[in-house]
Amino acid sequence: MSPSSNFDKILILDFGSQYTQLIARRVRECRIYSEIQPYDFPLERIKTLSPQGIILSGGPSSVYELGAPSCDQRLFDMGIPILGICYGMQLIGELLGGEVAHSEKREYGKIRLTIDRGGSLFKGVGRKGDSFQVWMSHGDQIRRLPRGFHALAHSSHTPFAAIGDSKRKIYGLQFHPEVVHTLHGIDILRNFLFHVCGCQRLWDMRSFLEEATLQLKKRIGSGRVICGLSGGVDSTVVALLLHRVIGDHLKCIFVNNGLLRRNEASQVVELFTQHFHIPLIYVDAEKRFLKRLKGVTDPEEKRKRIGREFIAVFEKEARKIGGVKFLAQGTLYPDVIESTSWKGPSAMIKSHHNVGGLPEKMRLKLVEPLRELFKDEVRALGRELGLPREVIQRQPFPGPGLAVRIIGEVDQERLEILRDADAIVMEEMKKNDLLDRVWQCFAVLLPIKTVGVMGDFRTYEHVVALRIVESQDGMTADWVKLDHRILEQMANRIINEVRKVNRVVYDISSKPPSTIEWE
Ligand code: XMP
Repeated sequence: MSPSSNFDKILILDFGSQYTQLIARRVRECRIYSEIQPYDFPLERIKTLSPQGIILSGGPSSVYELGAPSCDQRLFDMGIPILGICYGMQLIGELLGGEVAHSEKREYGKIRLTIDRGGSLFKGVGRKGDSFQVWMSHGDQIRRLPRGFHALAHSSHTPFAAIGDSKRKIYGLQFHPEVVHTLHGIDILRNFLFHVCGCQRLWDMRSFLEEATLQLKKRIGSGRVICGLSGGVDSTVVALLLHRVIGDHLKCIFVNNGLLRRNEASQVVELFTQHFHIPLIYVDAEKRFLKRLKGVTDPEEKRKRIGREFIAVFEKEARKIGGVKFLAQGTLYPDVIESTSWKGPSAMIKSHHNVGGLPEKMRLKLVEPLRELFKDEVRALGRELGLPREVIQRQPFPGPGLAVRIIGEVDQERLEILRDADAIVMEEMKKNDLLDRVWQCFAVLLPIKTVGVMGDFRTYEHVVALRIVESQDGMTADWVKLDHRILEQMANRIINEVRKVNRVVYDISSKPPSTIEWE
């Protein structure tokens, strides 16, 4: 974002807490733009960003350890309000001349906090002597306050659970206001944003849209951009946004890899050409992909081959267009944070494919207009751009599509069986108004046959597993305790209506230790 933005900004310096993203989300829920940067983000760049306030996140280290992450001491002399959370607060203590030490009694989980001084962060939350529940997770604590600081709250084992220097507008919280278990957490953050930092200029999708339009125009100029569509909400929003800004200079390519759900390809084509009147290059690559997948059973090998084939098809089409300078991608903020985190990208369990590899090969520059947004913000932007509800609420669908839901070899016949079963799952979920309420629901085709009996005949046919999960972000997930009658209806319909299936099972494993997809 350029420093000339017409909305206020909060900078969050990341010291490695698992909750850093959550802090950013909460600030944005207050309609203030927030940005996460690594803890050692240079001072000059902070000045250019000119945030209204800075939040120092929590983190797993101890401030007194050798090599513990720290921030530039001059940060505290810039006159920008600062809020330290957990490790961030201890860092304030350590750097400003207080004392931090390991405490004998570590506090973890729900703890009662008692206010020592009302006002400032606790404005409207409570007065001296009032207490409420907060979420703590720490082994260290501030033993002696730096000069100019006062205790604002305590818990039974932490005398300085909230501290502040109102003159310099520097505050610290030993607990986590961003976690839902902290009652009034959002009010405390709000107080920091609006009373301490004086934020006023709100951020919403309309202001994002204005800003993004200006920046995209400047960046792209009269260049041509290609955009690969997947049918998912992210790439659809990227395409709509760019089309609004550069019109015909955007070329959308939709590769039908033959691994999509029933009617998905025709829905994408219809949405773009009929609904939005955006021309689309449709590539029917079904045969090519199936050929590449012949005889392949290993999940990662499937992913690799699909990824490579996608690049090959996409590249060929892009060359036909000619004069393309940019490739647009639906990268979201969590991906950006993940790759810039000071801990480095977390362990890869499955290689999730995107069109990485293309830009260097084709000398294309990347355009990623959603890289500052969280998923729900992309949905809000989609609404702003007139995207129909069914597309906005569409469940995540893996790049390698049904190939990772057919365990074992993928062929045309198995794809048809899975598509039929999957369509029934979707229909029944929709009929019961559950489609938007779960993270994902789908069918999986297993590589085994079991014995059944239909009428007077013994059958020996395929097994379909149902996978229906709820989740916040796909990182963890729980199986949905679906009404048995709905499950029964799905199973009956699949066995009766889908040829060559005589058994349906329900997957009752959570993630972790299982994953959402079976491959
Ligand atoms: P897992 O199976 O790892 O899935 O629990 C987490 C989320 O990621 C999706 N997923 C993929 N998405 N390419 C993608 O674009 C992939 O190879 C892939 N594998 C899993 C999955 O559908 C779920 O939402």
